[in-house]
Formats: sequence, structure tokens, C-alpha cells
Amino acid sequence: MGLKRKKISSYDRDTFNAKGYLKRNYRARPDGIPDSPEDWLPWLLKNLKDTFAGGKLSGERLLDVGTGPAIHNLISAARHFPDITCAEFCQENREEVERWIHGEEDAFDWDPFIKYVCGLEGEEDWEARKEALRDAIQHVVFCDVRDKNPLGAFNGGPYDVVSSILALCGAAKDKAEFDAIVSNVGSLVKPGGTLILVCDLGTTHCSDGDRSYRHTPLDAAYILQTVRNSGFTDVQNDTLLFRGTERLKGWKGLIYLTARRCLE
Ligand SMILES: C[S@@+](CC[C@H](N)C(=O)[O-])C[C@H]1O[C@@H](n2cnc3c(N)ncnc32)[C@H](O)[C@@H]1O
Repeated sequence: MGLKRKKISSYDRDTFNAKGYLKRNYRARPDGIPDSPEDWLPWLLKNLKDTFAGGKLSGERLLDVGTGPAIHNLISAARHFPDITCAEFCQENREEVERWIHGEEDAFDWDPFIKYVCGLEGEEDWEARKEALRDAIQHVVFCDVRDKNPLGAFNGGPYDVVSSILALCGAAKDKAEFDAIVSNVGSLVKPGGTLILVCDLGTTHCSDGDRSYRHTPLDAAYILQTVRNSGFTDVQNDTLLFRGTERLKGWKGLIYLTARRCLE
């Protein structure tokens, strides 16, 4: 019997293999360092640590869009932002985040990631940080970034900081929709507030182990211009360009950017 080719679909609000996605992507090596192709996870977590270091970003309220089933991107943020909202399209992912917040037995074990980020920050009491992160996540809500008002009836905005990590290229079917999505998400940032955006470069799909989800392949210059066109200034970025096997599979790297929403 021939091998069946996996169908590539768009994200679905009812179906995502949250546990499969976490197991596939978020492992730590025996030395405690996150295990990822081309070390993209240590690169990302260091960028997040640097962005939030010393309380550089002002405000109290942060929205993370497309959180997925994962909370590791919020560890550094929670040190300074006591009011965090996680917004996510897929119900299974929202439930997975809730399981971790409530310390349920079958929740994913993020302890290695919390210890790793605390190590980067020179913080010893990682258990206190874990509890602080649990307390800081005050809402886990539905969102669809393709809507002009992504949070729908949940009227929480605008926010001091809005972050979105590896979510927007997957939500967009083409460049025009990516532009609209950045504008929709950008509208949730307060004038003068900060957008943190991380996108994969060149990726055509992402897998949760069961299914593959279509991503719009974009380059760094296009993403930076889209953010500027959406009313943001002071755009700063760091790109990680892959050299090894991931590049051969079409995943060229990642861009991490921060930008300030123009005052109206
Ligand atoms: C590759 S995962 C990234 C998850 C997480 N931020 C991380 O760093 O692992 C992409 C996420 O985008 C979410 N997503 C897809 N379409 C979306 C949409 N239209 N609105 C909001 N989120 C969406 C998916 O459900 C999924 O959780």
C-alpha cells in the first residue's frame, strides 16, 4: 500500500492536536536547554527576556494572540505585566492553557522552560515565577485575527503590549490577508504601546503531528514593511537565518520584531 500524503488545511477552531504539537516542539535537552532545530527556541526566549528586561516596556496589560497550547513565550513578560490575556482560535489549545494554569495532572510540564528562562534572567526562585505566571494569566479567550475586531465580544482592549508568536503567517491565506491581520492585531495596541511579532520565514506549513496547517511564506522585508504600513514606528528586529537541514525543507528562519504604535 502506498503512503498517503498528508492533507494541508487551514487551522480549525475545533481540531488541533495540542498534546502532539507540544510534544513535537517543546522538549528540553538533559542539560536543560530547549531542544530545537538551529537553536531557535533559545534565540526566541533570549529575545523575549531582553525585550522585557528591567521593565523597559511600560504598562500592566498584555495580550498574546495565537497563544496556542503554549505559555513559554509569557515567562519573561509576566515578571512585569500582572494582567495577561491569552487569545487563541482553537478550543483545544485554550483548554490546554487552562489545564496548566489550574495545575491539572495531565497538563504539559513547562518547568524546564521556566527554569531555563529564570537561568537567563539570573532569577533563582523559578517556582515563585511559575506561580506568578499562573496568577498573571487572567483570561484565556477566543480570537480570530481575520476579524476586524479579533476579540469579538470580549472587550478588553486596547493593550499596553500585544505579542503574537508564530501565529499570523498560519492564519493568513495570502499576503493581502496577512496585511489585514497585522492591521487587525495592531489595532489592539494602545497608541504609544508595543507590538511584539515573531514570524517564521519561508514556511509553507506547520504540523501538530496529525495534520499539517498551511502557512503563507513571507520574507523579513515584507513583514517589516507591513508593520510600518499598519501605523507602527521604531521597528526593531532580529532575524535568525537557518543554515542547515531546516532550510532545505523550506523553513528559512525567523524574525523577531518590536514596534511602537504611532500616537494618533
Ligand atoms: C504554530 S501555532 C503557534 C502557537 C504558539 N504561539 C507557539 O509559539 O507555539 C499557530 C497558532 O495560531 C493559531 N491560529 C490559527 N489561525 C488563527 C486565527 N485565525 N486567529 C487566531 N489564532 C489563530 C492556531 O490555532 C495555533 O495555535
